[in-house]
Amino acid sequence: MPALTDNNAPDPGFGLYFHWPFCRKKCPYCDFNSHVREAVDQRRWTMALLRELDWFAEQASRKRLTSIFFGGGTPSLMAPETVAALIEGARSRFTFADDIEITMEANPTSVEAASFAAYQRAGVTRLSLGVQSMRDEALKFLGREHSVREALQAIETARENFPNISFDLIYALPDQTVADWRRDLEQALSLAGDHLSLYQLTIEPNTGFAGAVRRGEFTMPAEENAEELFEVTQSICAAAGRPAYEISNHARSGYECRHNLTYWRYGEYIGVGPGAHGRLLCDGVRTAFQQKKRPESWLAAVEAADHGTEITEPLTHRLECAEEQLLMGLRLDEGVWFENFSAAIGAPMTDFLQRDRLDQLIQAGLMQMNEQRLRATDRGRLVLNSLLPEILV
Ligand SMILES: C[S@@+](CC[C@H](N)C(=O)[O-])C[C@H]1O[C@@H](n2cnc3c(N)ncnc32)[C@H](O)[C@@H]1O
Ligand code: SF4
Repeated sequence: MPALTDNNAPDPGFGLYFHWPFCRKKCPYCDFNSHVREAVDQRRWTMALLRELDWFAEQASRKRLTSIFFGGGTPSLMAPETVAALIEGARSRFTFADDIEITMEANPTSVEAASFAAYQRAGVTRLSLGVQSMRDEALKFLGREHSVREALQAIETARENFPNISFDLIYALPDQTVADWRRDLEQALSLAGDHLSLYQLTIEPNTGFAGAVRRGEFTMPAEENAEELFEVTQSICAAAGRPAYEISNHARSGYECRHNLTYWRYGEYIGVGPGAHGRLLCDGVRTAFQQKKRPESWLAAVEAADHGTEITEPLTHRLECAEEQLLMGLRLDEGVWFENFSAAIGAPMTDFLQRDRLDQLIQAGLMQMNEQRLRATDRGRLVLNSLLPEILV
């Protein structure tokens, strides 16, 4: 059990998320807010995204951005000029931290790799590549548009242009053995930069795969196989110097995705674009924003009224906020800092915890606590969703 050695509670940071909701093709496993459209008027979309950013800049009390994230959808379908205009737009409305992280999700096709250098010139500092698998059969199964060869070339191009690259892989595929995954992961680690996101395939409702499973076209690995794959993943990555800092995210120390850390540390962030989520302190109350999901509805709303917010919800119920913060923060290896918790919730964490039950979980080796923070152990993180209802009052 690692010792809980602490410095000070980290500043959660202040992030800006842009959602680009378009893809070339819908992948059968994906339930992200992504849509296939024949033509996209990028100038019009740039204007609308900047207009909504303006609206949020008015609401936000923090003015110094620590990260920007272009997610999707497929943001690497954005023209470099679009990306440059959005980064410049953010720069004119906020101050940038000296070491601001600007990440872009990119699909590793050759067409997109051709724009990587231009994205770097536009100000992107970090690329997150959707490699998904090191095997062509698996890429085919996942309905991807790229081959392993193309992905390897895209990784090479990404490395030439960015100091900081990450890539995503999906595992626990039907029939995937531990030996298969071990081989893929070791190859991935030899190619990966300092950061990797490794997700177990999940069958989301209303996706192509949900229908395929219903029709019996394939079966998902049994739970115990998936758990074994998860454990192998943790140990291989830790041995390769990229331990998990979050359930699905692995990095060398100092290379964690700062933007996602802001979410998990319960910081403030703006979400611009269709379906984007945001969390901002408005008159001292943490407020959740959710933008209209359908691209056309969002665009029409922004053009008519400067923003496409569908839901604004002041999070006044402290127990709900406490639960949300613990659910996010306990995903992290570092856990939740008491200082950050009380700053966000306005009351100490101990007010929300069932001390007896927590002590039992600590005894059982599932949680740890010291004067500064509460964390789930590796075993505890595996069963996080069932732990939380037990410890909350
Ligand atoms: C916003 S998505 C996709 C970004 C980009 N468009 C792409 O496809 O590479 C981020 C990541 O979530 C993961 N993902 C999406 N749906 C998933 C699912 N059903 N099961 C597991 N991982 C999934 C994929 O690894 C994907 O790269
Ligand atoms: S996985 Fe990526 S490329 Fe595929 S539909 Fe989803 S967002 Fe688009």
